[in-house]
Amino acid sequence: MREISLPLPGRDQSYQILIDPGLRLRLPRFLASLNFPPRVFLITDTRVGSLYGDQAVAVLKEAGYSPTLLTTPRGERAKTWPVAQRLARELLARGADRGSPLIALGGGVVGDLTGFLASIFMRGVPFIQVPTTLLAMVDAAIGGKTAINLAEGKNLLGTFHQPRLVAIDPQFLRTLPAGQRRNGLAEVLKAGFIQDPDLLERLEPGVKHVFQDEDELTEVIHRTAAIKARVVAADEREGGLRRILNFGHTLGHGLEQASSFRLAHGEAVAWGMLAALRLSEKLAGLSPQEGAWGRQLIRNIGLARRLPRLDLQLVLSALALDKKRQADRVVFVLLKRLGEPVIQEDVPLGMINEALVQEVLGGGG
Ligand SMILES: NC(=O)c1ccc[n+]([C@@H]2O[C@H](COP(=O)([O-])OP(=O)(O)OC[C@H]3O[C@@H](n4cnc5c(N)ncnc54)[C@H](O)[C@@H]3O)[C@@H](O)[C@H]2O)c1
Ligand SMILES: [Zn+2]
Repeated sequence: MREISLPLPGRDQSYQILIDPGLRLRLPRFLASLNFPPRVFLITDTRVGSLYGDQAVAVLKEAGYSPTLLTTPRGERAKTWPVAQRLARELLARGADRGSPLIALGGGVVGDLTGFLASIFMRGVPFIQVPTTLLAMVDAAIGGKTAINLAEGKNLLGTFHQPRLVAIDPQFLRTLPAGQRRNGLAEVLKAGFIQDPDLLERLEPGVKHVFQDEDELTEVIHRTAAIKARVVAADEREGGLRRILNFGHTLGHGLEQASSFRLAHGEAVAWGMLAALRLSEKLAGLSPQEGAWGRQLIRNIGLARRLPRLDLQLVLSALALDKKRQADRVVFVLLKRLGEPVIQEDVPLGMINEALVQEVLGGGG
């Protein structure tokens, strides 16, 4: 079993991220070591619930727990106030109290929603993350950010609330659809680009290879989760270092918004990383060889094959609005070398546009 230890902010304690194939079947042992009471509440979405809900309940019951499974709709529409409120009332109806732990069983949506609820239910109850998507395993479940959406935008209501445990079982990914796998791999690539060139090399043989070999998959998850953990531990509330996690995301968010979120997050980030690599060559001294290799890797994964028709002007204005900078310049995370990020304070919008157009038209190289 692999373990990553994360300090609990402001306290003399830490919590663990555990990564082990089959861990979902051994979960009760770890709940016991957290001194969790027998009454626990699992929160999941309809798909994960239908795949793994019965098993999760059975495993907990067998170990003497009395679990209650609560189910939300799938997708972003579950990360809303009405759903959070409904869950809170169901918790009360099923007898939850100030000490009742919540268990998030699902992707980033379930994790964000459960963490949010756990942070405010009865002024805060303990929760643990059992992520079931690659994105949640390497990114969303780590760092203690929780959120729900408003009609005005994503993640506008949120809190910081650290889980007591993150239990990662790579075997959940056996049922994860290909598009969701790529979505997660975009974040793995990001982590590699900013901190771990060796991780990038592991992805070179392609997606199939990574997912076929359980040891390799476990290693990739471990390395990526460790990078996120290291960065957030150093900078819990996003002052400085945490900004490097925005590699590919500044432009990515602009693309997501301009496409009204039709473009998947991982796809948007992939385009953002392609452009960032080009800009890194121009502005940060990245060698053209490393830049080209990085871009080829992104495309080999199957990401950024085709950009849907978008108003690029809209993308750029989303960027300019997003960042409180001079109107025509934005803060961008670039690379000096693979694994060595720099924060570039004033990248001209025109140059970003040019880099993106080059990628869309050029499709590689
Ligand atoms: N808190 C953070 O720091 C943070 C960071 C990144 C992203 N996020 C949030 O994470 C969310 C995205 O998470 P996501 O990509 O995991 O999406 P998701 O939770 O919507 O899951 C994607 C889809 O996969 C299904 N699914 C999940 N696990 C499965 C499995 N093992 N087998 C088959 N199907 C499965 C789900 O039912 C869902 O339909 C966004 O809301 C984003 O804002 C949060
Ligand atoms: Zn992301």
